[in-house]
Amino acid sequence: MKHRRLGRSGLSVSEISYGNWITHGDQIEADAATACVHAALDEGITTFDTADVYAQTRAESVLGKALDGVRRESYELFTKVFWPTGPGENDKGLGRKHIIESAHNSLRRLNTDHIDLYQAHRYDPTVPLEETLRAFDDLVRAGKVLYVGVSEWTAQQIADAVRIAGQLGLDRIISNQPQYSMLWRPIETDVVPTSRDLGISQIVWSPIAQGVLTGKYLPGQPPPSGSRATAGSGAGFIARFLTDEVLGAVQDLRPIAADAGLTMAQLAVAWVLQNTNVASAIVGASRPEQVKDNVGASGVVLEPALLARIDEVLAHVAVLEPEGD
Ligand SMILES: NC(=O)c1ccc[n+]([C@@H]2O[C@H](COP(=O)([O-])OP(=O)(O)OC[C@H]3O[C@@H](n4cnc5c(N)ncnc54)[C@H](OP(=O)(O)O)[C@@H]3O)[C@@H](O)[C@H]2O)c1
Repeated sequence: MKHRRLGRSGLSVSEISYGNWITHGDQIEADAATACVHAALDEGITTFDTADVYAQTRAESVLGKALDGVRRESYELFTKVFWPTGPGENDKGLGRKHIIESAHNSLRRLNTDHIDLYQAHRYDPTVPLEETLRAFDDLVRAGKVLYVGVSEWTAQQIADAVRIAGQLGLDRIISNQPQYSMLWRPIETDVVPTSRDLGISQIVWSPIAQGVLTGKYLPGQPPPSGSRATAGSGAGFIARFLTDEVLGAVQDLRPIAADAGLTMAQLAVAWVLQNTNVASAIVGASRPEQVKDNVGASGVVLEPALLARIDEVLAHVAVLEPEGD
């Protein structure tokens, strides 16, 4: 497993991270979750990503238990704050009260005394950015959080955060966590160029488009049983990719993967890692074999001619522009 630095910071992350959205505390049982985490560790993954909101807070507890007994210095633990974790007005967003309280709750559930990267899960336009950045900075100064990142922020929001932190002498964000895959490329327009200029890395989510880029969903056929498309909580999220047009184009990637000597999942993960602004691809897995398959993408170099073939095959289905444009 290769490692990359997160932005301009001193933090190294594994090129492939393991994330537990949809799976832990929800789609899969605790023993399967532990088996996936241990497969990840065995394969050299050191970076683990979760969020306070996953499985109504259960995902953090499952991950904390699965990592029990593993040397704390040997892995990087990332979590997030923003989406509601309770019914109250202050149970959500990026106000000081929720950030500080949610951090304490995450630390308790993860059974650790520090979070390596604490991420604003979305931008909160209702709270002054100064307040949000000061609350994160206080957590850093208290030693509860080591680094701060964001998720799905626009280029402008990222630039504003860096400017304000600089003016106020606050801790600076080092990463952004956007969706990025061969089928979902809007960050290439503005987010990546701005992040490059500012020394910020992307840690990308759903690099396999939630399983779609493995080619296991076939056009005109029902989804395979036990897959995310048949899982109660996951089915809604994957639905936008499950059209015959997208699934047909994905099947056309098969000869390209074969020529590269890769599985379809490996091709998908290797593709996002060709972007040098991407520090890590966060993969999910419902079984340990998937983790073993996906880590085969680390260190793979895809030649320009092969990348051009992928662009051609997916030209009519890949989303290139930010939504709403
Ligand atoms: N910041 C955000 O807003 C945000 C949003 C979403 C996710 N994330 C992060 O990104 C992580 C990854 O997201 P994701 O789970 O959607 O990523 P993904 O890697 O694109 O999809 C993972 C799913 O695809 C299937 N799969 C993976 N590898 C496979 C293989 N080799 N063969 C066959 N099927 C395979 C599995 O589902 P089945 O076996 O059930 O089919 C697995 O759970 C999350 O856990 C979370 O940490 C962040």
